[in-house]
Amino acid sequence: MSKVQNHETVIILDFGSQYTQLIARRVREAGVYCEILPYNTPIETINGKSPRGLIFSGGPSSVYDATAPKPHPQLLESVDCPTLGICYGFQVFARELGGDVAASPNREFGYARLKVLDVTSRLFQGLPPELDVWMSHGDHVTEVPPGFHVTALTDDALNAMEDQSRGIYGVQFHPEVAHTPLGAQVLRNFLFSVCGCRGDWSPEAVIEEQVERIRGQLGDQGCVVSGLSGGVDSTVAAALVHRAVGDRQTCIFVDNGLLREGEFESTLALLRQSMKLNISGVRAGDRFLAALKGVTDPEEKRKRIGKVFIDVFEEEAGRLGDVGYLVQGTLYPDVIESISVRGPSAVIKSHHNVGGLPEKMNLKLIEPLRELFKDEVRLIGRELGVPEEILGRHPFPGPGLAVRILGDITEEKIRLVQAADRILDEELRLAELYHSVWQAFPVLLPVSTVGVMGDERTYERVIAIRAVTSVDGMTADWARLPHDLLARVSARIVSEIRGVNRVVYDISSKPPSTIEWE
Ligand code: XMP
Repeated sequence: MSKVQNHETVIILDFGSQYTQLIARRVREAGVYCEILPYNTPIETINGKSPRGLIFSGGPSSVYDATAPKPHPQLLESVDCPTLGICYGFQVFARELGGDVAASPNREFGYARLKVLDVTSRLFQGLPPELDVWMSHGDHVTEVPPGFHVTALTDDALNAMEDQSRGIYGVQFHPEVAHTPLGAQVLRNFLFSVCGCRGDWSPEAVIEEQVERIRGQLGDQGCVVSGLSGGVDSTVAAALVHRAVGDRQTCIFVDNGLLREGEFESTLALLRQSMKLNISGVRAGDRFLAALKGVTDPEEKRKRIGKVFIDVFEEEAGRLGDVGYLVQGTLYPDVIESISVRGPSAVIKSHHNVGGLPEKMNLKLIEPLRELFKDEVRLIGRELGVPEEILGRHPFPGPGLAVRILGDITEEKIRLVQAADRILDEELRLAELYHSVWQAFPVLLPVSTVGVMGDERTYERVIAIRAVTSVDGMTADWARLPHDLLARVSARIVSEIRGVNRVVYDISSKPPSTIEWE
């Protein structure tokens, strides 16, 4: 049996809250492995995972809605572990177990002061008698079910309850959000004091398990290919597979001609030297450029790049002979998106990783990161000796500079964006702000504007600078970069790059904008 199943596991049932992933992150940060499953997951599936604890997430519904998501009526009595309900999850307990829930006249949103009534409650162990908590709900529990007692109040309203003998706990506030400063302690109390977890989820444990799992999957013979982009996910995935099967893995790194200046050479050298990976570097810039000739539609660009990528990858893999497996750097958020109660999210941009490969090539997938969040991937990468230079890199889209050159793509435009990218990168690092932003990059706009240089009128291109702060790329705010830094970047771009006479700064957040312009 794989060691994976020996992990302490906590199950989070998703009732549709925007914070469900945050609950999972907090649990993992506490050193406990957890999985998010839809609220209506069959009881046998849940029990099959031998959970040490069950958490019901919040959700946007009212328990009175006809279509409100409800857990299986026998769930609570059929699982042999403590449960914690958060917000909507708490209300579900109250309603299903014989208490009462009423609609609030207004949605309560924001900070509240929580007063702990029962200082012996394990959930509030070690916490002060009053604490700030974050609320976001429409209904509230007015009467606890038989067997429960109230453990905390906000403004005289019932905010937490428990029945220790049955191991059922509920809180109206959100312990998982940063706005509840002591919330992580509440969750830790649930995990360690209530559920009796020890916390056996660590980077070393993940590596050991994955290595064992990959060896089990590949047996003594199989060869495996991985697409390497020099980004964090693909590199850490390749590093794990390397730890498991060494040179039976061949990494294919394709230069699509749309990378940053010098990136193909420097990344190749860095990975070969520091990680001893077996890498085949393929220069295919001309093929990508030919496929992109005259194409201006963003989705069409992505599709064409994806197609050439598959062609090149297939040819390379074909040359290697007996390959049965493909490594993909799929992360946990991608997996949750497709199984969550909300269903797969709408396609805004068809993100091209190595998406189409497996079906087409008949390769079996190895996805060693599919249980991990990005920050966990970084920790594991560090443990595996992946260079900091790669772990700390800003994300870079698969279609590369093609989505940062609006309109058609030419070699001249690529060189221009590469030069602006180098200047921005240098200045950000000099100002020691590179690691304070999620991403920063130039975008070449398809317009020309009038300028004056020396005594001459110019009519040249515009570069937009995009710099954002973000936690996970799902939402983002424009970075408040110092004006002096922006002034240096702008002056250097206009003076060092011929053909650009204007630089603008993008001050849009996501949503409603996206991070990349295309
Ligand atoms: P957007 O532009 O959708 O980007 O706000 C969110 C994050 O994803 C990156 N991105 C991509 N990554 N292939 C990728 O591998 C893509 O096609 C792609 N498009 C955007 C983007 O850089 C940001 O970090």
